[in-house]
Amino acid sequence: MINVAVLGYGTIGSGAVEVIETNQAVLQKRTRHAVNVKYVLDLREFPGTSVEKKVIHDFAIIENDRDVQVVIETMGGLEPAFTFAKKALKAGKAYVTSNKELVAKHGAELIALAKENNTNFLFEASVGGGIPIIRPINECLTGDIILEISGILNGTTNYILSKMTYDGWTFEQALKDAQDKGYAERNPEADVEGHDPCRKIAILASLAVGQQVDFEDIYTEGITKITAEDIRYADALGCKIKLLGTYKMVDGEHFAMVAPKLVPNTRPLSGVSDAFNSISVVGNMLGESMFYGAGAGKLPTASAVIGDVVQAINSMNQNTGIIWNPEKLVLSSTDNFAQKVFIRMKDSVDKAKVAAAFGDVEEVKASGVEGEYAFVTGILKEKELKEKTKEFEEILGYIRLA
Ligand code: HSE
Repeated sequence: MINVAVLGYGTIGSGAVEVIETNQAVLQKRTRHAVNVKYVLDLREFPGTSVEKKVIHDFAIIENDRDVQVVIETMGGLEPAFTFAKKALKAGKAYVTSNKELVAKHGAELIALAKENNTNFLFEASVGGGIPIIRPINECLTGDIILEISGILNGTTNYILSKMTYDGWTFEQALKDAQDKGYAERNPEADVEGHDPCRKIAILASLAVGQQVDFEDIYTEGITKITAEDIRYADALGCKIKLLGTYKMVDGEHFAMVAPKLVPNTRPLSGVSDAFNSISVVGNMLGESMFYGAGAGKLPTASAVIGDVVQAINSMNQNTGIIWNPEKLVLSSTDNFAQKVFIRMKDSVDKAKVAAAFGDVEEVKASGVEGEYAFVTGILKEKELKEKTKEFEEILGYIRLA
């Protein structure tokens, strides 16, 4: 029998226990062991549940119990998760986590610690919920140089944008519903301001390059400025607004960014709605490969956690060798990122001044939006975008085209 301990019995932790209980027979077949939840560490009690008698409040019990081989951490946040991860790995236990803050900040260090202790630090659930993306990058796309990773990496914001687009909901109404459905972070600012997808693209970029990409270095914009008018303009342009996390390698330089983008309806990412995520990976030999699935929520995320538990059991006393060196990768400035940009200004703006600043632009009209001058620029560098938009006090907003 393999004993596991679950740290944090919230949405994902209780989901992980549910997957173990529901799929016990298949887990036993795949690992050749019965998988038993021995402890649940939480500040709370859970009377009347299947884990009622397993709840403990002291991590030392888990650390010192030689019969616990795998620790599952679904608490989120840096501490005490980081301390628990180090202690568990030093005690030779495999550590499986859904905690993207922990992975983005300390992934390289914890992978190295797992290696030193001949065990594993696994984190499939930290990016893309139930979508397999970490293992494909680490174990399948290994014949390629990865040139680009781009995707919808946050279920909450995709849910909000989808509800605003298809059902005419307000931002607040959709966020509340995403929280009720268990998609949103405890502090939903992490979702709507883009911090969550920023950590996720940092993790994916680190794995693609095999070096530390600091999430603090990634230019990040969320969706809080997106309005019902923007949604109407997107429709007029034949696009959907999506919050995209992007990593690109161009001529040996590395770029990363998180921002809302106008994605043409002809591209598969535009059709990814609700809490679904989708990630496109471009390799120098592969071309493009797309990954799609449930990006948030209790059971999809728990499914990824338990997939890692199976790998941990099948790789007991044998490190799987994930390559993520602590040496920091210096990202190039986004100033040289270039794309077309959709810009909205008050109708009172001097059109000749717009033409002088942005050159030939294509005017866009949206039904039901009055009193504005909206247009799409030619290809514009980020640096120019910043400088030129500052010249206009009539500016109402802008969104980059994907
Ligand atoms: N809050 C996250 C999201 C959960 O909405 O995608 C999954 O990481």
